[in-house]
Amino acid sequence: MTLAEEISKRRTFAIISHPDAGKTTLTEKLLLYGGAIHLAGSIKSRKTQRHAVSDWMEIEKQRGISVTSSVLQFDYGGCRINILDTPGHQDFSEDTYRTLMAVDSAVMVLDAAKGVEAQTKKLFKVCRERRIPIFTFINKLDRYGKVPLDLLDEVEKVLGISAYPMNFPIGVDGKYLGVYDRQKNRVELFAEDTTHGQSERISEIFAPDDPDMIKKIGQANYDALQDDLTLLDEAGEDFDIDKINAGDLTPTFFGSAMTNFGVQNFLEEYLKLAPPPAPRLSDDGVIEPDDEKFSAFVFKIQANMNPAHRDRLAFIRICSGKFERNMQVWHAPSNKIIKLAQPQQFLAQERQIIDEAFPGDIVGLFDPGIFGIGDTIADAAHKFRFEEFPTFPPEKFARVQAKDTMKRKQFAKGIEQLTQEGAIQLFYPVGMGNESFVVGTVGTLQFEVLQYRLKSEYGVDVLLTMLPFEVARWLKFSTGEKVTPASLRGANRGMFLLDRQENPVLLVENEWALGWISENNPKLSMYSTPQEV
Ligand code: G4P
Repeated sequence: MTLAEEISKRRTFAIISHPDAGKTTLTEKLLLYGGAIHLAGSIKSRKTQRHAVSDWMEIEKQRGISVTSSVLQFDYGGCRINILDTPGHQDFSEDTYRTLMAVDSAVMVLDAAKGVEAQTKKLFKVCRERRIPIFTFINKLDRYGKVPLDLLDEVEKVLGISAYPMNFPIGVDGKYLGVYDRQKNRVELFAEDTTHGQSERISEIFAPDDPDMIKKIGQANYDALQDDLTLLDEAGEDFDIDKINAGDLTPTFFGSAMTNFGVQNFLEEYLKLAPPPAPRLSDDGVIEPDDEKFSAFVFKIQANMNPAHRDRLAFIRICSGKFERNMQVWHAPSNKIIKLAQPQQFLAQERQIIDEAFPGDIVGLFDPGIFGIGDTIADAAHKFRFEEFPTFPPEKFARVQAKDTMKRKQFAKGIEQLTQEGAIQLFYPVGMGNESFVVGTVGTLQFEVLQYRLKSEYGVDVLLTMLPFEVARWLKFSTGEKVTPASLRGANRGMFLLDRQENPVLLVENEWALGWISENNPKLSMYSTPQEV
């Protein structure tokens, strides 16, 4: 197969959702269709063995959750599919955001009864900024849900993206019997599930005017469907692939992951519409995936996946050319030639040494401690750097100290290492020496991971004190004068810190406090990430 053929069959995406919308269940069902697992339920059977997969770190086992994103690869319909998992719940972290830098499209799962929820909004925003195509799966259609037209309206109003329903629920008052498929012009009704969603479920298919179908769903439901479809045709969005590719229109599917209803159809339509690996921007122009010269970037670093070996893995996303085991590549930040030994691919917990991979694929590399987030690796014959990764605004803050002051050195080393990995953002309280730091994260679980790793890898017990702040702002005076606690009016309304580059940062509790500071310091500009300053 040529490089171009390999690229054209790849689909690399992430599933984003608010916890409990059904991301895990949908992933599980997609794998089921891909033949990657034979019985759904082996990804995360939550009651008996919640940590069936990706229990790489001890903490994951203890908590029964997945701290890090895993990568799943399978084949379906001639496509090679890479699903990058984005953890939800309180294990929300910067990793979750960064994973979205490595995908070509995203699938947004919404709960039909809940609509657009908080975490969906945050993740959506990151996808939107990248202008990648976003597909929507409105889940849990097997039970009571909001009015479908209201759900579409909510997507448009809350997220600011137009929605094109690929299918449309049949039923009134939140009780659904199936869907009308707008692409295939046919009706699919829920069939009796005798396997409790454990295997593929066949739905009953009818022509849109089949009298048997009308009898089955009842005239009232049939009439309601006709009204909705007419409304959609007349007032709804037109299908427009350019808008989809630009991330301005989201093809929307209704279904039920648990009962498998609409999942296969979703997968097939998705594979038809979703883009193969896209070109990427670099400081040497656009890098096309079919460029013969290999290139990739690191989007995630995972330490201690195997406690027996204390290893670190750097996950790379291949952007161009062909990856081969033991190949020599140029590592941009160190300007050194390195050998890519022991490349690994994943089906959840099972690691597998791989010999070759192509654009769109994710490979885990053994990391002797040289890789950092966002690093470019490329063919030595064409040296360039991919665009820098954005930093995401931290929202949770804690003061961190070593319990035993004798361990100060190890403590500082550990903190430094974790900051470099991008697991935390580090700040220094002004005038406090190096005994204590303030650590910022995007999710609270990162503090537990921090505590655990400092103990297990550096032998340091830490004291964590959560701070009551939720907003960080980088500060600058338009006069060019440096912002200090003394020159900032109301500095004592928050906490004044310096970041690692000694830029002034203020933590405050809420937007109201920000408003006060802004009003009382007319020459002050505030930024939510250091990049914006
Ligand atoms: P998440 O990864 O987005 O957090 O969601 P997950 O798939 O874990 O699903 C959250 C809950 O919603 C689970 O129930 C799951 O079974 C249920 N669910 C997922 N898809 C559907 C669906 O199409 N219809 C219905 N009715 N429920 C669905 P749970 O009670 O938390 O776990 P479990 O005991 O069912 O495993």
